[in-house]
Amino acid sequence: MDPLGLSRQMLPAELIRFKQTGKVITVLTAWDSLSSALVEAAGADVILVGDSLGMVALGHPTTLPVTLEQMLHHTQAVGRGLYLPINKQPLVVCDLPFLSYQCGEDKAVAAAGSLLKNSCAAGVKLEGAEPEILAVIERLVRMGIPVMGHLGLTPQAVHRLGYRKQAEDQQSQIKLLKQAVDLQQVGCFALVIEHVPECIGSRLKKELQIPVIGIGAGDDCDGQVRVTADLIGLTSKQPPFSQPLVPGRKLFIEALASWVKEQHRSGENPTKEASQQAPD
Ligand code: KIV
Repeated sequence: MDPLGLSRQMLPAELIRFKQTGKVITVLTAWDSLSSALVEAAGADVILVGDSLGMVALGHPTTLPVTLEQMLHHTQAVGRGLYLPINKQPLVVCDLPFLSYQCGEDKAVAAAGSLLKNSCAAGVKLEGAEPEILAVIERLVRMGIPVMGHLGLTPQAVHRLGYRKQAEDQQSQIKLLKQAVDLQQVGCFALVIEHVPECIGSRLKKELQIPVIGIGAGDDCDGQVRVTADLIGLTSKQPPFSQPLVPGRKLFIEALASWVKEQHRSGENPTKEASQQAPD
């Protein structure tokens, strides 16, 4: 609630209350003002400006080339698409891109801080739970920057992990469960868990106090996140755990093709007068 009567965006930590009350948390990605307006109108609790925008909107084969400047540019566009009063808007969380937080705590604070300072983002997401990453998260949280963790398939580690399902054997499951507890301990307000066996999603949900937001981690999580472009069928190749709700690409291509055809047809029959007046 808002005891001072100030209208403000939801605090990231309020998602913990969602978990406590059993309200399922919905997170959708957005990458520009068009997509953020759609996601807000759909009623999502959180907009994630994911670095998947590098693949979805910028045409890169991985998320690695995405820069901090691009994340800021897209997050600002996402903010311009929001139209509800500030206290009704979804929470906006922005991914820290590859190499903006792996090179030390000072650089990470500067990167995350610049996103919070210059856009509508109220928190950042970063991948992994190696000791260096835990130290970075601890520092960010102490500096007033809310952090969402991300484990399982972490696309920034594609050259180490591939795009495969993670934590399939007992040893890696034990490691992942410990990493999740570590992320909670250093102050993450929520955890995204991607492409792991369903039992890991539900175990994390039970064992963590912070909300566990799944994607390809089964239904028994505190919430779900999806890449909006996948969900509305715009991307040409969807991951196996994210089936499109509508064949968006096909629908749009058909509509546009019929417009193009119509234009060509009307161009084939110009009025005699117009063609006679055409200059040589
Ligand atoms: O970048 C992204 O869109 C993400 C989601 C898949 C969780 O990290």
